[in-house]
Amino acid sequence: AAIVKHTFHVGNYTVKPLCKEQVVVAVNKQLPGPTIRVHEGDTVVVDVYNDSPYNLTIHWHGVLQLLSAWADGPSYVTQCPIRPGNKYTYKFNITGQEGTLWWHAHFGFLRATVYGALIIHPSDSRPYPFPKPYREVPILLGQWWDANIMDVESEAVATGGGANISDAHIINGKPGRLYSCSKDTFKMKVIPGKTYLLRIINTALNDQFFFKVAKHNFTVVAMDASYTNPYPTDVVVIAPGQTTDVLLTADQSPASYYMAAHPYVTAPIAPFDNTTTVGILQYENTSSSANPLMPVLPAFNDTPTAHKFYTNITGRVQGAYESVPLSVDERMFITFGVGLDPCPPNVTCGGPRNSRLTANMNNVTFQFPSKLSLLEAYVRGVGGIFTEDFPDNPPLVYDYTNVTAAAGFTATEKGTRLKRLSYNAVVEMVLQNTAVISTENHPVHLHGFNLFVLAQGFGNFNRTRDEQKFNLVDPQVRNTVAVPVGGWAAVRFRANNPGVWLMHCHMDIHLPWGLVNAFLVENGPTPDSTLPPPPTDLPRC
Ligand code: C2O
Repeated sequence: AAIVKHTFHVGNYTVKPLCKEQVVVAVNKQLPGPTIRVHEGDTVVVDVYNDSPYNLTIHWHGVLQLLSAWADGPSYVTQCPIRPGNKYTYKFNITGQEGTLWWHAHFGFLRATVYGALIIHPSDSRPYPFPKPYREVPILLGQWWDANIMDVESEAVATGGGANISDAHIINGKPGRLYSCSKDTFKMKVIPGKTYLLRIINTALNDQFFFKVAKHNFTVVAMDASYTNPYPTDVVVIAPGQTTDVLLTADQSPASYYMAAHPYVTAPIAPFDNTTTVGILQYENTSSSANPLMPVLPAFNDTPTAHKFYTNITGRVQGAYESVPLSVDERMFITFGVGLDPCPPNVTCGGPRNSRLTANMNNVTFQFPSKLSLLEAYVRGVGGIFTEDFPDNPPLVYDYTNVTAAAGFTATEKGTRLKRLSYNAVVEMVLQNTAVISTENHPVHLHGFNLFVLAQGFGNFNRTRDEQKFNLVDPQVRNTVAVPVGGWAAVRFRANNPGVWLMHCHMDIHLPWGLVNAFLVENGPTPDSTLPPPPTDLPRC
């Protein structure tokens, strides 16, 4: 195993993807940021210099961080932010994972421009469980604002309204030629007959995507750095935080073809960026890419297509890795959704009916601490930062079926109420969408663990009926599960990693609204199940 070293200089950078120059925060003056390539078993060391005007942390999305919670990165959860002018070194091992992950800033909306791919190859000479592709191509889908992204966030937070919609969607940093002023279109050259591995990552702040390449089919082979059984499809659906690896064979008549992405939207009560980004797949020795064929993307609200993709893929059971734990120690029912708080007197608020938008998990609107990280407070025994009384199995107060009746406010409690788990406990969570104003498909991401996705469905979860549908043989393994609009997902994980681990909706506007919770996982009995002390350069609040 090797030590893979990177240096990230994070600072202001001026770009002009559309008609206007914009100063953004970027890593090493690159958009997307540098790709980290490792082999399973390697150690990653990244020196992060914060030369930006904002607080900053970096999260290695989907990396299990076994015994390295101090390197996970969410601000005020596993560390205080790196202040402007300061530095922190992230150090962690990559164990038991292969495929595509990514990294991103985990402070406010900064991740809109501070992100990149993290690609894990099999160790030594172990082959992929599919034919070796001729070439591998990362496809980072994202969202672009012609604005300072931290201002976009603070305006939304100040009024309690939604964030201003984005100005473009992007492929590898480029909006593509359908937007005015955009001269830069991502281009991928292919050789007839060869097979390519596309490593598709949804880095967007708030939008899910449908992605297609005209005339070409895909075979899905991995998601969230876990192999799947091969799944043929002509469309990929991908939520913020997720990755999908597909094989594409250049088997059409030599010409150029558009690849395209536009959003999958399940809460159409709010305006959204309905634009389409394109890239070009161009066959070798074809001269012109003036008129590529355009794929027909599903309609924005095509939930049947999204649901089929999200649920029909099975995980590839791998000898070396754990399969679904069959006995459960902790059963949790977790409702979550977006609701409304009353507007303070003499203020104009940005939410519906002059309200402030808010969100919750089990009727608790999560409050991030600001004086100390949760992990430091736990390890050092500092009181007053969090409590351990996350309500496990509350009644379903905000029933999605009752949307119109529930015209009032959500009246959730604000708090930092963690759920404590003993080492190695097997946890089953039913994640249940609820709603006051509207339900939507929320990509729920758990840090520090992979989730076995047992089943998903619409409506309210009914254990007697729905337990029958659990796949305990070859479920998908995900770090981010897109819980169906007005529906539920049942997942399991084993709490074999001591630390404090955030769980949240990966639509970034839902973090300040409070669609968040965290697990506190105790140390195990031996040194190799015990979290080491914090690194000496851990930033201070
Ligand atoms: Cu990719 Cu807590 O996030």
